Amino acid sequence: MADDIPRTIEEAVIKANELTRQIDYHNYLYYVLDKPEINDADYDLLIKQLIAIETKYPEIVTPYSPTQRVGAAPAEGFQRVGHLTPMLSLGNAFSAEELQAFHNRVIGGLGTSDDLEYVVEHKIDGLAISLVYENGLLVRGATRGDGIEGEDVTSNIKTIKSIPLKLQGDDVDIPPLLEVRGEVYMAKQEFARLNDLREKNEEPLLANPRNAAAGSLRQLDPRATADRALDAFIYGIGKYEGVELTTHAQTLEYLKAAGFKVNQLYRVFNNIQEVADYCDSWGEKRSSLPYDIDGMVIKVNSLPSQTILGSTAKDPRWAIAYKFPAEQTTTIVKDIIISVGRTGTLTPTAILQPVRLAGSTVSRATLHNEDYIKQKDIRIGDTVVIHKAGEVIPEVISVVLDHRTGEEAPFVMPEACPECGSPAERNESEAARKCTNVACPALLREGLFHFVSRDAMNIDGLGPAVLTNLLEAGLIRDAADLYQLTEDKLLQLERMGKKSAANLLASITKSKEAGLARLLFALGIRYVGVKAASVLARHFGDIDAVKSASVEELIKLDEIGEKIAESVAAYFASPASLELIERLHNSGVKTTEDKIVVADKQPFLGLTFVLTGTLIEMTRNEAAAIIESLGGKVAGSVSKKTSYVLAGAEAGSKLEKALQLGISVIDEAEFKNMIDEVS
Ligand code: IVH
Repeated sequence: MADDIPRTIEEAVIKANELTRQIDYHNYLYYVLDKPEINDADYDLLIKQLIAIETKYPEIVTPYSPTQRVGAAPAEGFQRVGHLTPMLSLGNAFSAEELQAFHNRVIGGLGTSDDLEYVVEHKIDGLAISLVYENGLLVRGATRGDGIEGEDVTSNIKTIKSIPLKLQGDDVDIPPLLEVRGEVYMAKQEFARLNDLREKNEEPLLANPRNAAAGSLRQLDPRATADRALDAFIYGIGKYEGVELTTHAQTLEYLKAAGFKVNQLYRVFNNIQEVADYCDSWGEKRSSLPYDIDGMVIKVNSLPSQTILGSTAKDPRWAIAYKFPAEQTTTIVKDIIISVGRTGTLTPTAILQPVRLAGSTVSRATLHNEDYIKQKDIRIGDTVVIHKAGEVIPEVISVVLDHRTGEEAPFVMPEACPECGSPAERNESEAARKCTNVACPALLREGLFHFVSRDAMNIDGLGPAVLTNLLEAGLIRDAADLYQLTEDKLLQLERMGKKSAANLLASITKSKEAGLARLLFALGIRYVGVKAASVLARHFGDIDAVKSASVEELIKLDEIGEKIAESVAAYFASPASLELIERLHNSGVKTTEDKIVVADKQPFLGLTFVLTGTLIEMTRNEAAAIIESLGGKVAGSVSKKTSYVLAGAEAGSKLEKALQLGISVIDEAEFKNMIDEVS
């Protein structure tokens, strides 16, 4: 290779330019188009040749040489730089109605809907950047900052291989000035690779690709940025000279031709319904993309129309973000409070600055226990990343350490129960701290909330507020007292009218027939969930039989392990429990269940059911118990192995999947017929 090194500086410049052109071209094919034409070894050879020439003739190295993507020395800090035109943000629409309202505003602003077209793009969930090219050369890359001024991150931007250091095209087409705008992001796969590595090195995990990208772009050492491969989509232009453009779609095509990575999933529509449909279609399949999107961006296509519409102080009037329900977001921990559950466990909860998350507004998140807070080092005042665990309960995933000011207060778990002041102790083997007072009012109250809940005695109209009022008025002390309530007593409560009282009494009376399975669950015996309660009820048929069963007998049952068996036995050994059951029984609460002899008759053996939607005459848990008692299995998700999908009202994606896979779908009536036929 040494023989290839040019003998004169003039030849070196020519050869280096040629190699640069080739490398830039192959970079473009590989990083932008994802369609490489040469293999890695040939590419490396080109780089090596260029390095050899630049080593011999260091004076010819330009900042735009592909060898200079990584190489700048670590910076002490980032310089603030002004943007040539302000970097605006976007207004949000969260529903089809809000999108329609935007459309109406656009028509109002333009005075006509003639020729109105929209470009719809993915809203990449990363961070905004601005790149300035002078005479085709990248001279500056900056973060958005406050929209007027950002931070100069040029050295780090240069490590992103899909960003051209030099614009493509003939010299005549190279504009004297071009400021482009885009979004730097980290691909999901790269994020996973990085976190795997961090896990191995026992480093704290990064919360999501967006935070990872932000952290990466703001590394003071560009080599650290280069190690965490970032990427960038370019979606627009700021200030420019020497280019003629009339539509946004044309702008995107121009940017593509200039060598930028432009997301090819943009579409042009002349109808707002089609815009909404296109947005929704991506809302459903966004998880299949190799990068995160948090919505779609809708932009008026005509640039003159954009100018007519103009901007407010913050947002353009010609564009809007159609946001998908966020799966993760950040917010501030305003306080940490402690609640006491029905087993006496003290649970810390973060009180959050309200934010939208997965379609609702969230103002609290569970923090589980003191170890969780310690591990994640969550402090009051912290900015945190939250998500919905199991898509329901908001949970704090991590702290955004970059946002720490030093003012945040570490949390100290109280050693006394906040409800009754008794010592709250922690058992060595458990993470939970518990109130030691068996008569703690919190235990009683939470136990009652559980007793009346849907899967338990299912007493309508008896929510936490009414129960709390009843307790505070001294009208009830425990679950058995509920069955001694009368109209006179109920009318003592504020805001309780005759009609509500009558309804409530009817619900309470109805609950007497709930049966043993529900009653066993309602009693709140530790570790006895809906399933175990149902197994016990159907096997023993009567509460007296459960009461006298030994641990050995209990363990023999399917689904009943040692922990549950011991807990059941301990519960029925307590005189207080026996007294409560006696009083419930005397009030007419049913303490039996129809026995199902599981062993001989298993007509559903080998069948797997998936339950979805709302059933009317039974809960999903009840349906599941029936299926299992007949030998069938209940699965959480639909696959080829599913035999039947039992679909109630408002069944969603599971039903859709079943139809796609051609799996038999039955409704509640058909399900009941099936049971009748086999039993
Ligand atoms: S257009 C004036 N298009 O979303 C219009 N923004 O607040 C400015 N973003 O962080 C933005 N993908 O960087 C536009 N296809 C896209 C986008 C996009 C992501 C980001 C943008 C900024 C935020 C808008």
